[in-house]
Amino acid sequence: MPRLDILLFPDPRLRRRADPVDVVDDDVRRLIDDMFETMYDAPGVGLSAPQVNVAKRVVTIDVSKDRSAPLCLVNPEIRSVGGETEAEEGCLSVPGVYEMVKRPERVRVCALDHDGRSREIEAEGLLAVCIQHEIDHLDGRLFVDYLSRLKRQRIRKKAEKALRHA
Ligand code: NI
Repeated sequence: MPRLDILLFPDPRLRRRADPVDVVDDDVRRLIDDMFETMYDAPGVGLSAPQVNVAKRVVTIDVSKDRSAPLCLVNPEIRSVGGETEAEEGCLSVPGVYEMVKRPERVRVCALDHDGRSREIEAEGLLAVCIQHEIDHLDGRLFVDYLSRLKRQRIRKKAEKALRHA
C-alpha cells in the first residue's frame, strides 16, 4: 500500500467541498486502507480524503495510543452536538501548528462503514473533536479558520515560507 502525499495549507485544493461516495466498493476500500497507512505513518490521529487530494467524503481516525481503534467514516453526517470544550488541535496539512479550538464536546454521527453499512457513532472528548475536525475537511474547512485572522495570517505566512524553502 502506498503512502499518499498530504496537501499542505494554504493549498487551495484543501478548500474544495468533497463529493459523497455512491457505493463503498473495492476502490473506496483501497483508498481507506491507503489513508490509514498514511495517517499512521505521519503519524496522526485523523485524516480526510481531501487532504490526500481525493475529493470524496471519506475520513479515517484512530485516537488510541496503540493503533487499536481504527474508525472509518464514509459520508459522515453530524446528527446532534452537545456541550462545549476547548482543546488543542493540530493537522497533518498544517504541520507544526497547535492551537486551542472551541467545539461541541459531544457528537452523534451517522456514517457508512468499510462495508457500506450504515452506523451511528456517539463520541465525546478527543474522539468527538477529531470527528468534527475531519468532517470540516470534507467541507473545505480547516481548524485555522477558528482562529483569529491575525493568527491565521501568521500561520499562512510561515507555511508559505516553508513551502518556498522545501
Ligand atoms: Ni486536519
